[in-house]
Amino acid sequence: MAGILFLFFSVITAAVLAGVHGDNSSWLLKVKSELVDPSGVMENWSPGVNACNWNGVICSNGQIVSLNLSWAGLSGTIPRELWRLSSLQTLDLSSNTLTGEIPSELGQLQNLQILLLHSNYLSGMIPEEIGLLKSLQVLRIGNNMFSGEITPAISNLNELRVLGLAFCQFNGSIPVEIGNLKHLTSLDLQNNSLSGLIPKEISGCKELQNFAASNNMLEGVITPSLGSLKSLEVLNLANNSLSGSIPVSLSNLQNLKYLSLLGNRLSGQIPIELNQLSKLEVLDLSRNKLSGTINLLNTQLKSLTALVLSDNGLTGTIPRNFCLNISSMQQLLLARNKLSGSFPLELLSCSSLLQLDLSDNSLGGELPPFLDKLESLTDLVLNNNSFSGTIPPEIGNLSNLESLYLFGNRMTGRIPVELGKLQRLEVIYLYDNQMTGEIPTELTNCSSLKEIDFFGNHFSGLIPKTIGKLKQLVLLHLRQNDLSGPIPPSLGFCTKLQILALADNKLSGSLPSTFRFLSELSTITLYNNSFEGPLPSSLFLLKNLKIINFSHNKFMGSIFPLTGSNFLTALDLTNNSFSGPIPISLATSRNLSRLRLAQNRLTGSIPSEFSQFTELNFIDLSFNSLIGEVLPQLSNCKKLEHLLLKNNQFTGVMPLWLGSLKELGELDLSSNNFHGIVPKELGNCSKLLKLSLYSNNFSSEIPEEIGDLTSLNVLNLQRNNFSGPIPVKIQQCKKLYELRLSENSLTGSIPVELGGLTELQVILDLSKNLLAGEIPSSLGNLMKLERLNMSSNQLQGDIPSSLGKLTSLHKLNLSNNHLQGQIPTIFSGFPLTSFMGNDHRLCGPPLVSCLESEEHGKGRLSNSQVVGIVVAIVLTSTLICLVMLYIMLRIWCNWRKVSISNSDYGIGGTDQNQQKKESEKKWAFKGEKWRTGEYWKMDSLALVTSQDNKKSPSSTTSCILNLKMAQDSMEHTLV
Ligand SMILES: *[C@@H]1O[C@H](CO)[C@@H](O)[C@H](O)[C@H]1NC(C)=O
Ligand SMILES: *[C@@H]1O[C@H](CO)[C@@H](O)[C@H](O)[C@H]1NC(C)=O
Ligand SMILES: *[C@@H]1O[C@H](CO)[C@@H](O)[C@H](O)[C@H]1NC(C)=O
Repeated sequence: MAGILFLFFSVITAAVLAGVHGDNSSWLLKVKSELVDPSGVMENWSPGVNACNWNGVICSNGQIVSLNLSWAGLSGTIPRELWRLSSLQTLDLSSNTLTGEIPSELGQLQNLQILLLHSNYLSGMIPEEIGLLKSLQVLRIGNNMFSGEITPAISNLNELRVLGLAFCQFNGSIPVEIGNLKHLTSLDLQNNSLSGLIPKEISGCKELQNFAASNNMLEGVITPSLGSLKSLEVLNLANNSLSGSIPVSLSNLQNLKYLSLLGNRLSGQIPIELNQLSKLEVLDLSRNKLSGTINLLNTQLKSLTALVLSDNGLTGTIPRNFCLNISSMQQLLLARNKLSGSFPLELLSCSSLLQLDLSDNSLGGELPPFLDKLESLTDLVLNNNSFSGTIPPEIGNLSNLESLYLFGNRMTGRIPVELGKLQRLEVIYLYDNQMTGEIPTELTNCSSLKEIDFFGNHFSGLIPKTIGKLKQLVLLHLRQNDLSGPIPPSLGFCTKLQILALADNKLSGSLPSTFRFLSELSTITLYNNSFEGPLPSSLFLLKNLKIINFSHNKFMGSIFPLTGSNFLTALDLTNNSFSGPIPISLATSRNLSRLRLAQNRLTGSIPSEFSQFTELNFIDLSFNSLIGEVLPQLSNCKKLEHLLLKNNQFTGVMPLWLGSLKELGELDLSSNNFHGIVPKELGNCSKLLKLSLYSNNFSSEIPEEIGDLTSLNVLNLQRNNFSGPIPVKIQQCKKLYELRLSENSLTGSIPVELGGLTELQVILDLSKNLLAGEIPSSLGNLMKLERLNMSSNQLQGDIPSSLGKLTSLHKLNLSNNHLQGQIPTIFSGFPLTSFMGNDHRLCGPPLVSCLESEEHGKGRLSNSQVVGIVVAIVLTSTLICLVMLYIMLRIWCNWRKVSISNSDYGIGGTDQNQQKKESEKKWAFKGEKWRTGEYWKMDSLALVTSQDNKKSPSSTTSCILNLKMAQDSMEHTLV
């Protein structure tokens, strides 16, 4: 009864409202009340005004036919009451910030032809009721957060022309029922999580013009049935997991303008039939596993403007008859294949070419002199091939050239002065070649230059005095050349400079004070030159410096001018003559991770402010004159991996907190004045690779926790006051390859367990201790050992014959012990000094033969023996000299390698540094971009937008098909 009453009442109310305005405005007011409208788009929606005059409302014959509230800044959920507007033909709520699901009631809008809900934050699944919208022609709901499978009910929309479901989270496979949509012209499924096959039923969409399903997880072969979609103009299947070969049937798509299969797993040859696609403008087959030769000819693909075949396994040469004179080809990108042969002269007929990328192939020979026939060229990318000869001066005529990438070839000769004509040139990368001569002054006329990278050539002479004319310069990388003379002061006027790398040259002089103008500078590396003098104090003004490497020069004076930036992450001043204390101002760089100040003349103690370096990873203060204790504050540097303080005058005991530095890999406190015990807590540093406490006054026993350092490679406790036995637990340090315990007061016998350290190679040095007992025969297991020193102990008994297995040994010292008996024959080649001072009880070569030693007792040597011994001594010492010379040469070579790698980012020690070296070599950041194709915006070509700008209006429209050609096909690519 109450229900009926209520119903009656509401009908009356509705009737009254409707009566007042004679239409459905009451429902619209209800709609308004459910939306949040901060910008007041629905302001004039009021009962006093005819609804047909309300913003966004369009009436026809007094009926509301269209409601358009797109781009209105609306939030809230889609009002259910919309279904009441039964005359509605168009509903556009796109580009707002609506949330929630699509109300299933919308399925009742029987007259709806256009439903646009794209670019909101809608979620949930597509309601099945959508299939009831019998009149629907356009359904665009992409760029939302919809999930679940695409409902097959969509296939009931017999009138559907446009279906946009891109940029959501749809999963499952493309419903086979899609083939029922006979009038579909545009199907956009990009950027979802769709998997499975492309249904062969898609061939039912006879009118399809635009099919984009890039950036999903589609797999299997590309269904050949696509070849029957005669109207298809755009086919974009980029970035899926499609495999098999490219179906020949695609060559039937006579209207195709855009074909992208980029980033799949397609294999086999490129079907030669694709040459029939005479309307094709863009063909991108890059990043697949295609093989065979290039058989696509621009002479047949007459409309082609972009051909991208990069990142495949294509072989053979670039076809000779590739281009027509009337070609409109603008992009030819064939990078990272296995193409060989020389630069094809025929390519020069592609005179409309803007971008040519042949990088990372095996092309060779000289560059053709007539390169200037490519008169439109903006980017010439030939890096990482085997091109040789000189740079043709004609390149100077390419007046549109913006980037020139010739790095990683075998180019020789000079930089042609003609390059100075290139007013648009922004990037010139010539690194890793063998070019010579001076850097021409004319190059400084290229006023657009932003990046110069000439790393690793043989350029000599001065840096052009006029370099300051390059006002746009951001990167100047001249490392590893033979440049000499001072840095021209005008360089300070390149005020946009961010990276300056002049390391590994023969540059000299002091830094010009104009450097204070380089306020954008973030990286400066000058290592391995002969720069000298104090730093200009105005360098303190450079507030953006992140990486400074001035190592291996002759700078002097205070470090202070380098501490003005709060952003320093790496400071390497190794091997200069800097003096004075470590400035406290350094501590303002909270992100400092590498600090290398070794081999200077620094004095004073470590500033207590170092406690703020929570990011510190590498600190090397070795070879200075620093004093004081190692501050407890360093215990905050929890990321410390290398703590190198050797050869200073530090005092005090070894701090317990060292045990809390879990990342510590290298601890070198040697040659200081530390004393006291080695705390057992050190055993917690389980990542420690190198522990060197050489030449201090450490005393007491070696803690057995040393055995917990199971990663240890190097243990050096030489020249201290350690006493007691060698801890047996040391046998757990299985990775030791260098063990020095010499010059202490160790007692007891040599533990048998030492024989388990089978990685020992560099040395086992136990000399100058008080070790007694016999040499354990287990030491014969140290097969890799090259040097063994047990001299000056109190060892007794025979030399175990098992030591004869030490075939790698080239240095042995057992002298000054109480050993006896026969020297194993394998040791007969070692010098007398290896065995001397053993109470004359050892015998056999190189000492007297055991027989004689028995017969003659302490008898004299015969004349012939004397001669023999003299000859032996002469011969062995010559040999030793040669070996030493060889070793020194090796060490010197290694040192050079190491010192170079050390200096890069101020990194040293471990293997990763070689990699860092490599990466710095190419820190020429463009180099990286190059490899990932970022430069060509291949991703945008592939219809990808980054998540970041997902919501920006341009990303959902213009970014979809990049490159100029794509304008028209873009209109078909709708979310
Ligand atoms: C108002 O809505 C009803 C359905 O609720 C519909 O039958 C009627 O035609 C509409 N009238 C106008 C003027 O739009
Ligand atoms: C809705 O209005 C916007 C302008 O605000 C227009 O660009 C868009 O095309 C309209 N939608 C429809 C479906 O007409
Ligand atoms: C699709 O995603 C939903 C969650 O959004 C999940 O429950 C469902 O199992 C997924 N289906 C497939 C086929 O992966």
